[in-house]
Amino acid sequence: MAKKIKLGLFGSTGKMGVAIRQLLKSDSDFSPLVEVCSKPTGDFEESFSDLKKIPAATLKQVDVWIDFSRPEGLMDLLPLLQQTKKPLISGTTGFEGNQFTKVEAASKKNPVFWASNMSVGLWTVRQAIKALSTISHFDFALEEIHHTQKKDNPSGTAVTLHKDLEKAVGKKIPPAVGHRLGGVFGIHTITAASQSEMIKLEHNALNRTVFAEGALKAAKWIVKQPSGLYSMDDLMKPTSKGKK
Ligand SMILES: NC(=O)c1ccc[n+]([C@@H]2O[C@H](COP(=O)([O-])OP(=O)(O)OC[C@H]3O[C@@H](n4cnc5c(N)ncnc54)[C@H](OP(=O)(O)O)[C@@H]3O)[C@@H](O)[C@H]2O)c1
Repeated sequence: MAKKIKLGLFGSTGKMGVAIRQLLKSDSDFSPLVEVCSKPTGDFEESFSDLKKIPAATLKQVDVWIDFSRPEGLMDLLPLLQQTKKPLISGTTGFEGNQFTKVEAASKKNPVFWASNMSVGLWTVRQAIKALSTISHFDFALEEIHHTQKKDNPSGTAVTLHKDLEKAVGKKIPPAVGHRLGGVFGIHTITAASQSEMIKLEHNALNRTVFAEGALKAAKWIVKQPSGLYSMDDLMKPTSKGKK
């Protein structure tokens, strides 16, 4: 029998934490070892309300960490990771100042996978954006809708799509317009228009499972990778060596 991957989950009580815990129940590749959150969920062998309370022996046992928390939480997790050189999957968004630089710095010693959106469908939309280079003279707009509890606006995904779009068409595009409505999981729309025609590329997440599936896929993949900063491109194109 293959050795199970011992998982550490940071943010297990959150909306994404719930989605990941649900998937873990039917995924025999993982052994849920340790969670960090304000209230134990009962789904892990050990639960801690504070990173500083995790014993060194437990830290050493974790094969991979998954983080869906807040940027300030992730900043606390990074130094701990560096002690053990264990891999990290992070989907946290909304970084400010030099916070993402610290994520990049951590990847010098640890394998670090970060993606603002872990859905395979959204990654496919990103590939389609590259084709918009042929109509770079069109006008472009980006829009996103998320649930009312979402903290960052525009979303991390919208920021990623904005960068992709500006790179593809080689010109400045207005920042994404974000709406916070009801319980929407995440809708991202790119509109391209000329005087004669209009194109819409739209991704609509129908649940959070889609992001959780991406995170677990990435966790299984990263345990075999050397240190470096990895993205959905590396996961979806396994021949890529990732960025060092
Ligand atoms: N990459 C993707 O595919 C993707 C998809 C969806 C969401 N996200 C991002 O993932 C993150 C979490 O989303 P969510 O919807 O699950 O949020 P959420 O429901 O607000 O949950 C946040 C979780 O993080 C914990 N947390 C908050 N602040 C913390 C801190 N300073 N230190 C440690 N833990 C902290 C919370 O723990 P307690 O409540 O127990 O304190 C909770 O478990 C957000 O940044 C969101 O934008 C990414």
